[in-house]
Amino acid sequence: MNPKRLLVVAHAPSANTGRLRDAVMAGARASDIGAVDVQCIAPLAAQPEDVLAAQAVILGTTENLGYMSGALKDFFDRIYYPCLEKTQGMPYALYIRAGLDGTGTRRGVETIVTGLRWRAVQDPLICRGEFDGAFVRSCRDLGTAMAAGLDAGIF
Ligand SMILES: Cc1cc2nc3c(=O)[nH]c(=O)nc-3n(C[C@H](O)[C@H](O)[C@H](O)COP(=O)(O)O)c2cc1C
Repeated sequence: MNPKRLLVVAHAPSANTGRLRDAVMAGARASDIGAVDVQCIAPLAAQPEDVLAAQAVILGTTENLGYMSGALKDFFDRIYYPCLEKTQGMPYALYIRAGLDGTGTRRGVETIVTGLRWRAVQDPLICRGEFDGAFVRSCRDLGTAMAAGLDAGIF
């Protein structure tokens, strides 16, 4: 049987956001999780086929000018219609790195994924304010929770 695939689509334009993305990946690839294939693709490179091949998605973005990164928006612009009829119910989780807010990004992403009929498996993780090592731990936990849930067939 093919392994289940968890797709991580994360925009990481800085050292801090790179640490968050890497923590999500490390958590998802934790050794005690069985047969889950974890794939990380930058939003500008991710294609509709990558989404169609996945059974769960983690989205990661910065907040820029009160909204998700242009890169993540471009991802949605390109995958929306090719995936609309084929990924309803897709379990997803979202993390946001925001200097001081994050609400506009949360609203923007939730509007789009509501249209896609994707299903949030947990509240968005908003890493807000001065960078904190706790963000890294939370991102690691997010990756682990998603991969373990997918592995266990909870979603
Ligand atoms: C052009 C620009 C616009 C930004 N706009 C927002 C914003 O609207 N809300 C917010 O919370 N943070 C904003 N930020 C802060 C970024 O979210 C933050 O710098 C980014 O997530 C990278 O995190 P880091 O600085 O810890 O590497 C902005 C940053 C830039 C460069």
